[in-house]
Amino acid sequence: MKEKIDIAAYAQTITEALPRGILLNTNGAKFNSMVIGWGALGTVWGKPAFTVYVREHRYTKAQLDSTGEFTISIPLDGPIPSIAKVCGTQSGRDVDKDVAARLTLEDAEIIRVPGIKEYPLTLECKVLYAQKQELEKIPADIREKMYPQDVDGTYPMANRDAHTAYIGEIVAAYMIR
Ligand SMILES: Cc1cc2nc3c(=O)[nH]c(=O)nc-3n(C[C@H](O)[C@H](O)[C@H](O)COP(=O)(O)O)c2cc1C
Repeated sequence: MKEKIDIAAYAQTITEALPRGILLNTNGAKFNSMVIGWGALGTVWGKPAFTVYVREHRYTKAQLDSTGEFTISIPLDGPIPSIAKVCGTQSGRDVDKDVAARLTLEDAEIIRVPGIKEYPLTLECKVLYAQKQELEKIPADIREKMYPQDVDGTYPMANRDAHTAYIGEIVAAYMIR
């Protein structure tokens, strides 16, 4: 069951959960979920929006580029270690994470990407705009720390490749009960 929520009333919950790890879900060739620690809840072009930052070689990026849709799933009592481990360290290229992390999927209301019962606060988003970040425009200290040039870009914890920012319009927001 879905219980509609007022996004603004959960702004603090969402922004506090983010750095601890929430889930970004996509559904292209298959359902996939990855942990994100960066994101932004806000307003753009007069629309409620959630922006995510996805590195070049993530399986998630290919799915986002082909479908233009994602759901955000936020835990209410902190990340669940068994889910966070699978979704934050393994790639959808190698594993079916819904099976490996024992996720209970719930069909979305408007888009094709399910939400996750275990992380009940759900935002359905349609991509309005995607832009690859230009490393040379990032302050040097951050660039050296976040994008060192000594790790192969295909490695799961790769830090060589830039992020693409995807601004998603929030088209539905609810709690899965
Ligand atoms: C706490 C935490 C936060 C993360 N935040 C992000 C993020 O904001 N953007 C990103 O591209 N990867 C982030 N990652 C890494 C991905 O979750 C990880 O590489 C994942 O295995 C990618 O899965 P995929 O290949 O199925 O897309 C984070 C990982 C952890 C553990």
